[in-house]
Amino acid sequence: MIKAPGSAAIAEAAALIKAGGLVGLPTETVYGLAADAFNARACARIFEVKARPSFDPLIVHIADASELPRVAQSGPALAAVLAARFWPGPLTLVLPKAAAVPGIVSSGLDTVAVRVPAHPVALALLQACGTPLAAPSANRFGQLSPTRAQHVQLGLGEAVPLILDGGPCAAGVESSIVDFSGPEPRLLRPGGIPREVLEDALGMRLPSGPAVLEKPLAPGQLASHYAPRTPLRRLAQSAAHDSGEAHLGLLAFQAAPEHHHYGAVEVLSPSGNLAEAAARLFDCLHRLDGQRLAGIEVEPVPAMGLGLAINDRLAKAAA
Ligand code: TXA
Ligand code: MG
Repeated sequence: MIKAPGSAAIAEAAALIKAGGLVGLPTETVYGLAADAFNARACARIFEVKARPSFDPLIVHIADASELPRVAQSGPALAAVLAARFWPGPLTLVLPKAAAVPGIVSSGLDTVAVRVPAHPVALALLQACGTPLAAPSANRFGQLSPTRAQHVQLGLGEAVPLILDGGPCAAGVESSIVDFSGPEPRLLRPGGIPREVLEDALGMRLPSGPAVLEKPLAPGQLASHYAPRTPLRRLAQSAAHDSGEAHLGLLAFQAAPEHHHYGAVEVLSPSGNLAEAAARLFDCLHRLDGQRLAGIEVEPVPAMGLGLAINDRLAKAAA
């Protein structure tokens, strides 16, 4: 439901976020589909509602630069220069991730994208809920980015219980993304702040990084996707009773085989819930990857709903 962003609606939105729900949120660039960035299950719901066929890392929104240490490690001094100059505003910084940010937010990368939005309603909600908000654009996969509350409702409908109406977005184009995780800053996505303006503030040229793809369609198309170091092999069906070897790990969907010989097993969702499986996917892979195994075997996940996105990432990780 679309609501005018008075104090009652902001309080209702904050309560929804804290309960693990989703809220349609105006920013100065486009409307976002927001969830508590520390709640992996809520962030998995974002992908479900957007019907994204793959997990593309999300931008985390914070109320002001002092909140940055909650989600990221402090990057190089130049990152702080850009933050001081352009926040709040349409600038997203990619920095080394803080451990508290769940893997689904960063698609398993050890970096996180962060920005402070320049919109009074977004800032009011961030203040009211006291948690950083993960929010991609509030559109279904492949559709246009929403710049009005009505676009969000038309595109996502009942799946979003509350959309705060902040009027038409002033910028209408997404934030510029600058990556500070490497030896020198790179522009990953041109956006609301022109390259020349960023270069001026940095006092140096800003080369383009690997382009950020809004719609990664095929395995490997997303430039920097998480791939475990341990070779991954997808099983045609669930691991059988008595299967496995000590030097192998198993990523199981619902349960470990009753009797097995795997060196390590991670279970995605004991209840077979795809949102829970999605929320746990990257963290389970990271844990298995850290065990010095010779290989990881992966059970299939039902190819429906979020299962499609899970299988897509597993196919990429196995490629
Ligand atoms: O203006 C905006 O940035 C809007 C509003 C809602 O804030 N948000 C937005 O989010 O455009 P989204 O999810 O549609 O686009 C986020 C982009 C994705 O293309 C993703 O690949 C990239 O940011 N991204 C996120 N985390 C990243 C990371 N750790 N490293 C590289 N790219 C990242
Ligand atoms: Mg988008």
